[in-house]
Amino acid sequence: MSLQTNQFKSSLEALNKDPLGAGELFFQQLFSLSPKMKSMFENIDMGPQAKVFSYTLIEIIQLLDNPKKLSPFLSNLGSRHLDYGAKDDYYPFFKQAITQSLAIFLKAQWNKSSEKSWNQLMDHIIAGMKNGQSLYDEDSALAA
Ligand code: HEM
Repeated sequence: MSLQTNQFKSSLEALNKDPLGAGELFFQQLFSLSPKMKSMFENIDMGPQAKVFSYTLIEIIQLLDNPKKLSPFLSNLGSRHLDYGAKDDYYPFFKQAITQSLAIFLKAQWNKSSEKSWNQLMDHIIAGMKNGQSLYDEDSALAA
């Protein structure tokens, strides 16, 4: 894969500095894009969720240079999301909310090149998560 950790240097610094702020901004954008997304997180404590979301992005970026570990990480995340009710149609909201929130969060450090890198990264995350979901579905079909 062509994506590398060093492409996300300023994002990584900003996420590490304020994981809660970045995560909260992300969920604000997500919920304004789709009321359906808001209802999915109705019973979730959004403070910890916002932080976990940022920490997960940090971990994924750090694993970009280590595809052997990144691939199972994303598959596992995806298969856990089957239980959370994640459907294919919902992923584009996540992709859009990421670029919208990071543009606000990174201010002058956000540019066309960061937008391109993040769009590619989200495509990669989503593909990896969906792959985990389909593997899990096959496992359950075999077990049935
Ligand atoms: C299809 C779009 C998605 C939906 C509807 C969705 C929904 C949810 C929900 C409802 C939870 C809370 C689960 C609980 O605590 O009971 C959750 C947890 C989580 N989500 Fe998502 N999510 C989506 C995509 C993503 C993406 C793209 C990421 C990428 C980083 C992500 C990362 C996480 C993480 C790290 C958690 C914490 C729990 C865990 O690691 O299993 N989600 N998600």
